[in-house]
Amino acid sequence: MKIAINTGGGDAPGLNAAIRAATLAALKRGWEVYGIKNGYGSIYTDEPFIKMDAETVHGITMQGGTILGTANRGNPFEMPHQKEDGTWTTKDVSDRLVKTFKEYDIDALIAIGGDGSMNIASKLIKKGINIVGVPKTIDNDIYGCDVTLGFDTAIDIATEAIDRITTTAESHHRLMVVEVMGRYAGWIALYAGIASSADVVLIPEIPFSYDSIEEKIKEREANGRHYTMIVVAEGAKAQDGEVVTKGKSVGQQVQLGGIADRIADELSERTGKESRTVVLGHLQRGGSPSTYDRLISLRFGAAAIRCVQEHDYNKLVVLQDNQLKRVPITSIEGKMKSVSLDSDTVQTARDIGVCLGD
Ligand code: F6P
Repeated sequence: MKIAINTGGGDAPGLNAAIRAATLAALKRGWEVYGIKNGYGSIYTDEPFIKMDAETVHGITMQGGTILGTANRGNPFEMPHQKEDGTWTTKDVSDRLVKTFKEYDIDALIAIGGDGSMNIASKLIKKGINIVGVPKTIDNDIYGCDVTLGFDTAIDIATEAIDRITTTAESHHRLMVVEVMGRYAGWIALYAGIASSADVVLIPEIPFSYDSIEEKIKEREANGRHYTMIVVAEGAKAQDGEVVTKGKSVGQQVQLGGIADRIADELSERTGKESRTVVLGHLQRGGSPSTYDRLISLRFGAAAIRCVQEHDYNKLVVLQDNQLKRVPITSIEGKMKSVSLDSDTVQTARDIGVCLGD
C-alpha cells in the first residue's frame, strides 16, 4: 500500500502531530508514505513528494506549522496560471494530479485541510482518487465536526492576548477593539471573548448594531467602568453593513480584515472616548499546539490510517459527542458550521452580560 499526505490551505497548530501519527501508523502496517510538498501545486514539479520515514516525523508533535509546507493557491481546479501576455488566470489542472498519482501508484490520499480542502477532495473523489480527510482549521467551521485541529490553540492564544490588552485598556480608560480570525464563523471570537471576560463580542452569525454597543459602553461608564473590551470576528458585519475585505489575488480566497478599525472609529465618534485596535492575525495560527490539539491531531491522523486499512474511503474523520466518527466528504461539500444561536455558549454569554451587538 502506498499513501500520500497533503496539507492544504492555511496552517494550524497540530498539523505536524497529524502528519506524524498518520505516517507512523502507516509505516507500522508496512506501507509506503509520501508527503506532498507545499500543497497540490507541487504535483506538477519534478519532485512532487517527500518519502516519509520515522526520522522525517521525529520530534514534530510539538512543532507549529507543517513540515510538508502548504499553499493557499493550491486548488488543482483553479491553479494560478500565467498567460503569454504576462497576466494571470486560473486553470483546471486536476487531470494532471490524477495522472501523477497513477504514475506513483498512490493508493490513497490523506487530505488534511479545512472546508476549502474538503471541497477540493470532494471533486477529486469524483475523479477516482481514494481520499480520507482530516479536519484542520483554527476557524472550527468544518461541517459535521464538533472540533477541528488547531482551534483549541487559537482560542488559548486569543484569550491570553485579550487578557493582556484588558489591563492596558483599563489603565488608559480606552475602548479596545480586538479583531480575531475565523472567516465567516464566530467560534474564535465567541470562545476567546467569553473566556477573557470581554464586554462586547461580535460574531458573523449576529449582525451587530452600533446603538447596542454604544449603550453597553455608556452603561459601563455609568457603573464606573471607564474602559470597554470589544472582541470582533474578522467576518462580523454591522446590521446595515457588509463584511470588510481586503480583496483577493488570482487563485486565492478573499482576505478578510479591517472591521476593527471601522468599529473603533464609529464608537469613538459616538462616545468621545479614545480607542485602539489590535488585529491578532497569524499569531493565532503559529507556534506550538496545545496539549488538546496535539492529542486530537494524533487521534485524527491515526484514525485516518485505520480508515484506509478498511478501504473505507472518501470519509472525513470527525469528533462528534467526544467520539471519533466518519462522515462522507461529499456530504459536507459547500457547507460550513456556524455558531448556533441556541447553543449554551451563546446563552452563557447573554447570561453573564456580554453584549452580542443585537
Ligand atoms: O482559515 C484560517 C484563516 O486563518 C482564517 O481565519 C483567515 O481568514 C485566513 O486563514 C487567513 O489566511 P491567510 O493566511 O491567507 O492570510
